Amino acid sequence: MIKKIIIKLKPWILSIVDRIEQIEKKKELKQIKKVAEKQKILFPDWVLFVVFIVIFISFVWIKSLIVGKIKIVEILCSLLSIIIVIYFVFSTVFTYLLRKLKSLLNIKFEEYKNSVVLFFTLSLLHIAVIEFYKFNNLTFYLLPITGFVLLAGLLLDIWWAVLFSIFNAVVGSYLFTEIPSEMVTYMFYYLISSLYVVSLVEKIFSRQDLLPVIAKSAVASFLIAVSVNILMFYKTDTLFKFYLTFDVFSLYQKLNIFGFLINSVLSNLLSLALVSVLLTPFELIYQKTTNIRLVELSSLNHPLLKRLMAEAPGTYHHSVMVASLAEQVSVALSVNPLLCKVGGLFHDIGKIVHPEYFIENQFAIKNPHSELNPSLSSLIIINHVKEGVKLAQQFKLDKVIIDIIEQHHGNSIIYGLYDKTLEFDSFDKEMLRYPGPKPQTKEAAIIMICDCCEAACRSIEELDAQKIKQTVERVINAKFVEGQFDEVPFTLRELYIISDILTQTLISFYHARKISANGEHTPS
Ligand SMILES: [Fe+2]
Ligand SMILES: [Fe+2]
Repeated sequence: MIKKIIIKLKPWILSIVDRIEQIEKKKELKQIKKVAEKQKILFPDWVLFVVFIVIFISFVWIKSLIVGKIKIVEILCSLLSIIIVIYFVFSTVFTYLLRKLKSLLNIKFEEYKNSVVLFFTLSLLHIAVIEFYKFNNLTFYLLPITGFVLLAGLLLDIWWAVLFSIFNAVVGSYLFTEIPSEMVTYMFYYLISSLYVVSLVEKIFSRQDLLPVIAKSAVASFLIAVSVNILMFYKTDTLFKFYLTFDVFSLYQKLNIFGFLINSVLSNLLSLALVSVLLTPFELIYQKTTNIRLVELSSLNHPLLKRLMAEAPGTYHHSVMVASLAEQVSVALSVNPLLCKVGGLFHDIGKIVHPEYFIENQFAIKNPHSELNPSLSSLIIINHVKEGVKLAQQFKLDKVIIDIIEQHHGNSIIYGLYDKTLEFDSFDKEMLRYPGPKPQTKEAAIIMICDCCEAACRSIEELDAQKIKQTVERVINAKFVEGQFDEVPFTLRELYIISDILTQTLISFYHARKISANGEHTPS
């Protein structure tokens, strides 16, 4: 009787247990999501909103101190109108355009959230400076435009900097003056000089590179200010007359050329100070990695790379090779070569913990894996990714580099241990799988391919051009079939380019090595 009842109740009890488990899992998932969200974004959207309100209210307060008392209704109306304008402009521009771009280029929208917040912060800071200048009757030509555009270009990218220039040229000139002709002059001056600065951003690879850029920008902003003023203040017929009766003194009197010169120099010096003070804090707060930071990391003087060289020389050599290969490939694919180089140098940093368990470090020593069972071997090998992430966090490496370390094996299988597991019938092959995630960026995927190709070519005896070509193609095909590039929008053409560049570069590396091993010299 009891048995019958239990049998009848069993599916019912099981469904309840299932339900409880599902609820628990959902709770866990929610918590994981919360933690992930917290780690992803340092400043949630509401913080930006509060900052905006605080800045706005302080402006109104300062204005009331200078102009006189302002009614609360006026404050509320202007606040509401600004919120409405900002909401509609940005919800249309950013949400619509970025979603469109996402669908066109398969861009991950989440990655842009941080950039949008940084864009807003820089713009708000810029507006604050404009209001300060206005209240203190300072000239528009003294604004540190170059500094703001350099910050946008270095912390975001060229296209963000172009957007920043256009947006702030319009907003800045509108806020600064109420006279339409002045507004147009300021807008043109701002737009032309800031777009010129954007074209210089790509030339900055170290903090010293800022000086020539600032010098060029000072000369450019002086010339642009004078030219725009000549064009705007002298209508076509007067401009013609002006050239006929050219008089340096009258030009000087009318345009105050010396004033423009002083303003250009001072504004660019202010810009230099602005970039020097704000670049590092912004890098840290918004987890942005500039080219300047990447150049600093690629110098081989980093303590982690020094340790890798001393404790795991084989891995160090492999990492330098991977960095060099990845740099070559990235140039051809127009992705960030500096990030690929630094990612290549640091990708296997976790091997420092147990260097002797990795084949490239086993000089004249017995392979320790021969005495271990495959599950322990796989555990040690897989662990180098986790250890790498841990070390990178300890040494405060940037998030983009930590991501590359974490993703450089994706969720692939360690094929090197596959044969060993055949002796064990019950061995779960999933134990040989790296935990992932799969590469999320083109840079991480390039490191994965270069890493595998370098390791595969090193293991082949009597390597020739044909074998290198076959190996590279085999590695890329295998990774593609495994689905390691599922999260990366690689086209087939790009994969073909990667294969071609890698083959050429590896052939030249091994050819050079062969020549030096044979004692031959290349003619100089
Ligand atoms: Fe690795
Ligand atoms: Fe590696």
